[in-house]
Amino acid sequence: MVAVTAGLPEERPPHVPADLNALEPAIWPRTSGRADGAVTIGGIDVRDLAKEFGTPLYVIDEEDFRSRCREYRSAFHDGEVHYAAKAFLCREVARWIDQEGLGLDVCSAGELAVALSVGFPPERITMHGNNKSLAELEKAVTAGVGHIVVDSYEEIARLGFLADKHGVRPKVMIRVTVGVEAHTHEFIATAHDDQKFGLSLSSGAAAEAVRRILALPQLELVGLHSHIGSQITDTGGFEVAARRLARLLVEVKEEHDVVLPELDLGGGYGIPYVVGDESLDVKVIADGLREIVTKVCESAGLPVPRLTVEPGRSIAGVSGVTLYEAGTVKDVEGLRTYVSVDGGMSDNIRTALYGADYTAVLASRVSQAAPMLSRLVGKHCESGDMVVRDLYLPGDLAPGDLIAVAGTGAYCRSLANNYNYLPKPAVVAVSNGQARVIIRRETEDDLLRGQL
Ligand code: LLP
Repeated sequence: MVAVTAGLPEERPPHVPADLNALEPAIWPRTSGRADGAVTIGGIDVRDLAKEFGTPLYVIDEEDFRSRCREYRSAFHDGEVHYAAKAFLCREVARWIDQEGLGLDVCSAGELAVALSVGFPPERITMHGNNKSLAELEKAVTAGVGHIVVDSYEEIARLGFLADKHGVRPKVMIRVTVGVEAHTHEFIATAHDDQKFGLSLSSGAAAEAVRRILALPQLELVGLHSHIGSQITDTGGFEVAARRLARLLVEVKEEHDVVLPELDLGGGYGIPYVVGDESLDVKVIADGLREIVTKVCESAGLPVPRLTVEPGRSIAGVSGVTLYEAGTVKDVEGLRTYVSVDGGMSDNIRTALYGADYTAVLASRVSQAAPMLSRLVGKHCESGDMVVRDLYLPGDLAPGDLIAVAGTGAYCRSLANNYNYLPKPAVVAVSNGQARVIIRRETEDDLLRGQL
């Protein structure tokens, strides 16, 4: 290997894998492995997947996804687990969530429509959003969703109006901004005061929202909600949020003599994307949160509320892998080799948007070639179109090889776009040696549809 250091990030230089063919278990789907040199997921060789369904391809390990649902259910056995649809939702995923007994969080009429289209029980759906339109609120109210999380004073008034209009009494929670500075990317931190979500605890806006809802008998205030951000691996932030929310429950009891029976602590649990990233243990999180809330409530003589969490990424993230075919391999002398794939920022914008990091391997064969400092880039017309900014790939990587990128199950398909008129890739679920398309690949006809 040529020793190359120019252009490497000083803070976090890429890990040089001891074995470029290895699949680190915490980062790759639970059923993945290698057979005959090629990566397999759900018992299927990725070369067969590429041949049958084409590339780029999102591959979801159904067993991995479902097993994480079950782990959450068992860790929060005395509470509720709502999968956050925004991480990745389609009709089949909504069915899996239903079958595994989880609830579902939606934040738009579109997400709600996907869930309802497969008969997802509305009472297990929570409606979120910082700017729900009157039409969206009306859909949620008339569908009979289990909870609506109120994000503003305007929404309280709108919900009061809709409850009267339809003669229903929706269950509402208040999204509280608890003032935690989550250690994550600025764009996905949501509990400091200076952002658009929720009603502030410190300014008294959350307490005022409690007053306004309690003044409307047509609304049933059942609890408080907090979501501090996403891809958080330092559990301290969740604990501070849980404590502050539990204290607000105590204050509500003192001021109004009302006991709110539910606390929703949101999602945000981080996953490992690269070697060295922390892995959170769901049971440890559940036990820790339960203990804090129990302590605060019991010491104030309040019954312990029912806890809800809303994981998205930590259920869907690791179960998904993106499969690409390598195209142009360009060595920029003295710097690095640019390996281009047949997708990019249209199927995974997270690298460009958040500086996200990923692990990728040569997937169609093993190689004993020396590590080559690489940048995995897409085919879009932007230099920021990177899938993995800095990584090592085998030095003999060539056009036509398949490359698998791990950890793309969450926020990749859901943030996918048609930049440069690239069709969105298919999503294939694999399980026990079977593969089936759960979202078909877009065609050029799809791209032209809707235009004059
Ligand atoms: N609950 C609420 C109210 C949320 O806003 C979110 C995520 C979740 C739950 C689920 O969070 P998770 O467990 O997936 O971290 N596009 C960004 C992530 C945005 C998260 C938005 N809200 C990304 O790709 O990193």
